[in-house]
Amino acid sequence: MTYRRVAMLKTPAQFREHVAGLGIDLPFDEKIEIGPDAPLAQPYTLPGGFTIGNRWCVLPMEGWDGTPDGRPSELTFRRWERFGLSGAKLIFGGEATAVRHDGRANPNQLIINEETLPDLIRLRETLIAAHTASFGPASAADLYIGLQLTHSGRFSRPNGKKLEPWILYPHPVLNRKFGLPADYPVMTDDQISRLIEDFAAAAGRAQRAGFHFVDVKHCHGYLGHEFLSAFDRPGKYGGSFENRTRFLREAVAAIRAAAPGLGIAVRVSAFDFVPFRPGPEGTGVPESWGAGSYRWAFGGDGTGVGVDLTEPKAFLELLAKLDIALVCITGGSPYYVPHIQRPALFPPSDGYQPPEDPLVGVARQIAVTAALKRHAGGERVEPPPSTGSGRAGGERVEPPPSTGSGRAGGERVEPLPSTSSGHAGGERVEPLPSTGSGRGLAVVASALSYLQEWLPNVGQRLVRAGMADFVGLGRMALSYPQMAADSLAGRPLQRKHICRTFSDCTTAPRNGLVSGCYPLDEFYKARPEAEALEKLKKPGNG
Ligand SMILES: Cc1cc2nc3c(=O)[nH]c(=O)nc-3n(C[C@H](O)[C@H](O)[C@H](O)COP(=O)(O)O)c2cc1C
Ligand code: SF4
Repeated sequence: MTYRRVAMLKTPAQFREHVAGLGIDLPFDEKIEIGPDAPLAQPYTLPGGFTIGNRWCVLPMEGWDGTPDGRPSELTFRRWERFGLSGAKLIFGGEATAVRHDGRANPNQLIINEETLPDLIRLRETLIAAHTASFGPASAADLYIGLQLTHSGRFSRPNGKKLEPWILYPHPVLNRKFGLPADYPVMTDDQISRLIEDFAAAAGRAQRAGFHFVDVKHCHGYLGHEFLSAFDRPGKYGGSFENRTRFLREAVAAIRAAAPGLGIAVRVSAFDFVPFRPGPEGTGVPESWGAGSYRWAFGGDGTGVGVDLTEPKAFLELLAKLDIALVCITGGSPYYVPHIQRPALFPPSDGYQPPEDPLVGVARQIAVTAALKRHAGGERVEPPPSTGSGRAGGERVEPPPSTGSGRAGGERVEPLPSTSSGHAGGERVEPLPSTGSGRGLAVVASALSYLQEWLPNVGQRLVRAGMADFVGLGRMALSYPQMAADSLAGRPLQRKHICRTFSDCTTAPRNGLVSGCYPLDEFYKARPEAEALEKLKKPGNG
């Protein structure tokens, strides 16, 4: 299946026509506004009083380039420097940082401990220095910087290429897919308690390093995310919604005790699918899981390929009850459903050809984010059942259209609010509320890089229509971090830096190389790994 390239859509009219042809709805503003009243230039005040200077956010982006003992390398410093000069005022976690060695996703992931702390302090300072050098000496006052704390759980590779998994329950598909026997030992409740202490100690150190907040990572198949689908785990961390969120509640309590005053945020995979694999001609198809509904997808509707936001909404209510003010919405996992997690035209070497136009994946994440944002603004749902059955028999949300999805329909899409349809000119849009206070959770949107030159148009509309509070940059922050600054200043976008979703930044680390934007960033193009990457991408080598 081939899909029309976004780079070929030269005008807003062509973009909108293409989107309409896909049967999806993407919020879209024709004109990017500049100046102090521009939607993306609006400050956002958190309930604690901190005012974040604008609505651009750098999503956490790891580089697989730390030292064996978990310190940042020169490549890590360079990446954080570029995050600083992006112009984004919210740095949602920087990159996944392991709270201890056995929770690293790769042997080059950062670790936060007493030994690495001075380096992490320098890392944060490097980002701030780049920001103030670009935007003036006072510009750091509204720059809100967090550190993403993680344990990689099932996807831990602390010592080399070999998986050394920590799992919470035997997953019928993932155990098989990643070569774990059905009786592979699960993490015990005592081990979980010790891990919570490690999260608290890590948060204390992050506070000492000067970070404003920590992100207690609950996404992408890593340990925090696996708790949310632990229906089959006996005991106090499995089964009911209350038990499956106990880790979050206990981690938050322990962090508050260890680091009073430190902000806490959560990045959550708010929906998930059954793992995919390459099917005929390499196009992704769902794995089989046996009889009955597929209940191991948090935010899934039981079909394995649909969304039900009943539990994710309850999760957001829980965050609000825990006085957590900031949430970043993402989906799925890069290890088993990359097409829903980071929509791309070109798959990574361990992936599959996209089973849908990647814009469908973007629209799915936007629709989920908007529905959760509406909910975070006050709408309430019935609490999920305490039986652990997986769903409250409820609300199905936002399917992709049947076009190209590889399924025979059946899924219903919750339409986007009518304000999102993006008509050119003349149209009235509701003004932004003046500050963030009293508005519930601040919601960050992800998975927008595939929009390419149209990312600012969609992002502005998302914020203006109240469908998200912050526009997250993931891959785009690697290839073109200054997209935020250029867009805020009304400068034309630098097309040669726009991420075209070649997936080299994922293929490289999957093959033991540092991550970076090899196709578009001259710095990585010139590195020896670029040649190695080209060789392994040749057919038959990858
Ligand atoms: C090379 C690479 C590294 C990433 N590292 C992290 C990470 O450390 N933590 C995390 O939560 N997400 C990570 N992500 C996911 C991104 O934050 C983001 O959710 C994803 O790329 C989709 O957003 P985009 O379309 O803007 O790229 C990573 C993605 C890529 C491509
Ligand atoms: S390698 Fe560069 S162009 Fe390719 S997906 Fe990553 S950031 Fe985008």
